[in-house]
Amino acid sequence: MGMIKYIHVLTLAALLTAITIAGCAKRASQNTFNPPDITRWAAPDVNLTQLLSTEPNECLKPVIQSNDLQNIALGRMAFRSPFLLGGQASRRGLTCQACHSQGARNEHFFVIGLSKTAGTADISSFHFSSELGDEVFNPTPIPSLSDDIRNVDYDPAKPDLENLITQLITKEFTGENPSPEIKSALIQYLRQLDDSYCSNTVLTGADLLAYKIKIIDQTFEALEQNSFTPATQNFLAAALRAELGRLNSRFPKTDSVRSELFSISQSLNMRGEDITPTQISRAAQQWAVFSPNIARYYDQSIFHPVAIERWGRQFKAQSP
Ligand code: HEC
Repeated sequence: MGMIKYIHVLTLAALLTAITIAGCAKRASQNTFNPPDITRWAAPDVNLTQLLSTEPNECLKPVIQSNDLQNIALGRMAFRSPFLLGGQASRRGLTCQACHSQGARNEHFFVIGLSKTAGTADISSFHFSSELGDEVFNPTPIPSLSDDIRNVDYDPAKPDLENLITQLITKEFTGENPSPEIKSALIQYLRQLDDSYCSNTVLTGADLLAYKIKIIDQTFEALEQNSFTPATQNFLAAALRAELGRLNSRFPKTDSVRSELFSISQSLNMRGEDITPTQISRAAQQWAVFSPNIARYYDQSIFHPVAIERWGRQFKAQSP
C-alpha cells in the first residue's frame, strides 16, 4: 500500500519536473521579465484577457485584533507561497493559490496530467484518505474554500482541518511539515474565508491591481511588527519577494515600475542570512514611498484589458 502511494507522489513530482524543464525556470538574480505565474496554470487556448483582468475576490470575515491581522497576513502569504510545498512543486511555483485563487476557485486552472477540463485537478486521492487512492485519472472540480466546505470538518475543536493540511503538504506535495506558527496562521486564514462577507465576488482591472497592492501593504505591516520567530520572518520575507515579483510581472512595458519593485525586492534579499529589521524597514519605506504611484500605471499593466490584448499577441506568438 505504501508503495502505491509512493508511486502516486512520484507521478506528481515527475510531472512537475517535466514542466519545470519545459518552462526553464530562472533564478531572479536580474530583473528579467517573466510572464505572470497564473499563465502557467492555464490551458494554451485560455482567454488571456479574462485570465489576467478578472479574479475571484478574497472574502474574509472581518478581523479586529491586530494580532489576528498579522496572522492572517502570514496565513495568506503561506497560501500564496511555493516555499510551503517543497520539492518540485515549489521549484515550479505551485501554491494553494494556484488552484484556490484568493480562497475561491481558479476556474482556469489547467495542467496536463492533472486536469481534464479547466478548473479541475486530480488530487482527491491524496486529499482525503490516509488510505490510498487509485491510479485512475479522475480530476474533480477545484472547490472554493470560502463557501460551504464539503469534505473536511472546520470545527476549531477538531483536528480534522490541521490533519488535512499536514497531509496535503507533506504527502501530496512532499513538502516539509511547516512550523506550528506558519501552519496555525494558514489554518486561521482558511477559517477566516467566508463568501457571505463579500459584496463583490470578483475583482477586475484596477480593483484587482488595488487588491494586489493592499496585500503587499499588509504583509509589510506584519513583517515590521517583528513578532514572529526568525524562521517565520524569513519565510514571510521570501513570500513577500515572490509577491513583489508577481506584481513586477504585470508591467511588461513599464521599466520604471519594474525597476522600483525589483529594488524593493532586493532590499529584502537575505542571501542565506536571517532577514534583519534594518532590511525590513528600508524595504517598507521604499514601498511606502513608491506604492501610492503604482495605480497611475494601471493602463500599461496587464490587468488592463487593452494592455493584455497587446501583450497577449506577443506572448502567444512566443509560446511553444
Ligand atoms: C492542483 C490544484 C490544488 C492545489 C495546489 C491545492 N488544492 Fe486544495 N483542492 C483541490 C481539489 C481538486 C479539491 C477537491 C478534491 C475532491 O473533490 O475530492 C481540493 C480541496 C481542498 C479542501 C477541501 C474543500 C472542501 O470543500 O471539502 C481544502 C480545505 C483545500 N483543498 C485546501 C488546500 C490548501 C490549504 C492547499 C495548499 C497547501 C491546497 N488546497 C492546494 C485542488 C488543489
